Amino acid sequence: MILVIGATGMLGSEICRLLRKENQPVRALARETADQSKVHNLKELGIEIVEGDLRKSATFQPALEGVTTVITTASSMPFTYVPGENDPVLVDRNGMIALVDAAKQAGIKRFIYTSFTGSIDIDFPLRNAKRAVEKHLQESGITYTILRPGFFMEGWLSAMVGFDAANAKVRLCGDGTQPVSYISYFDVARFAVESLKNPHARNAILELGGPEKLSQLDAVKIFEDVTGKKFEVEHVPVEALQSQLETATDPMQKSFAGLMLCYAKGDPIDMKDMTSRFNISLKPVKEHARNMVAVA
Ligand SMILES: NC(=O)c1ccc[n+]([C@@H]2O[C@H](COP(=O)([O-])OP(=O)(O)OC[C@H]3O[C@@H](n4cnc5c(N)ncnc54)[C@H](OP(=O)(O)O)[C@@H]3O)[C@@H](O)[C@H]2O)c1
Repeated sequence: MILVIGATGMLGSEICRLLRKENQPVRALARETADQSKVHNLKELGIEIVEGDLRKSATFQPALEGVTTVITTASSMPFTYVPGENDPVLVDRNGMIALVDAAKQAGIKRFIYTSFTGSIDIDFPLRNAKRAVEKHLQESGITYTILRPGFFMEGWLSAMVGFDAANAKVRLCGDGTQPVSYISYFDVARFAVESLKNPHARNAILELGGPEKLSQLDAVKIFEDVTGKKFEVEHVPVEALQSQLETATDPMQKSFAGLMLCYAKGDPIDMKDMTSRFNISLKPVKEHARNMVAVA
C-alpha cells in the first residue's frame, strides 16, 4: 500500500492517477476541510481515503497501517496558507518531521519527499522547512528519495504570478534574462512514480528541471509566437524583491518574496544525466503554451 499525502493537490493528484494506472494500491491522507470534489475524484480512481492532517500527528498511525511507501507532496504554500494555523513552520517543517518519525516507527520501507531545487538557497521559512525535512529524512535511516523540482511551468507561467498570457500582459521578476529550467508538474509526477522502481532514486536527491534552460523573456517570446500577440512586459526589480523579503512579516509573504527572488536570479538545471537514468521525456514550455492557448 502506498500512502500519498497531498493527494488533493496538483502534483499529488497526478501521482495518484499514475499509480492507479499501474494498479498500485493507494491510500490518500486528506484533510477534513479538503475540497470534496477532489476527494471524490480520488475515490473514483479506487483510492482509499483516510482523514488526517500534518498538524495532527495522532492521525498518522492509522494512515500508515499496512503501508510500505509514503509519497508526500503536501505544502501549506501558497493555497492553503492560514497565518499561525496552516503555515510553513507548522505544516512544511514540524508536521513533515513528525510524519518522518511516525513513518520510521511504523517500519515504512520507502519515503519520497517533494522539496525544491537546491539553488533556492536563501533564508526564508519555506526553504528552511524543506531543508530541515530533507536532513531529518536522510538521517532517519528510511530509504528515501528527495525530489527537488525547479519552478513548475504551470504555476510560474500563469496569471497567478503575473504571467497573464490570455491578456498578453506579463510581470517578470528581475530583468528576466536569467536561465530557468521550467518543469511540468506532470513530469515531476512521473519521476515520483518511477522512483519507486529505479535504483538511481534510492537514497538519492533528484534535482529536476525541464528539457531547456529559458529566461523569462524567452518564455514570453514562446508565448508571443504561439498566441501571435505582442506581450506588454513589466519588470519587478531585484531590489524591490529583496526589500519585500526583508520587510515581510508573515511567513507566506516572506517565502513568496524569497521564491521570486530566486526565480529572478535563475535556476538552470542540467538534465542530461537524469534523462539517461530515467525513461522520461520532458515537456517543453512551447507545448505548455500551446495547451494554454487551446483551453483559453
Ligand atoms: N509550484 C512550484 O513551482 C513548485 C516547485 C518546486 C516544488 N514544489 C513543491 O511541490 C509540492 C506540490 O506542489 P503543488 O502545487 O501540487 O501543491 P498544492 O496543489 O498546493 O497541494 C498542496 C497539498 O498539500 C495539502 N495540505 C496542505 N496543508 C496540509 C496539512 N496541514 N495536512 C495535510 N495536507 C496538507 C493540501 O490539502 P488540501 O486540499 O486539504 O488543502 C494539498 O493536497 C509542494 O511541496 C511544493 O512546495 C512546487
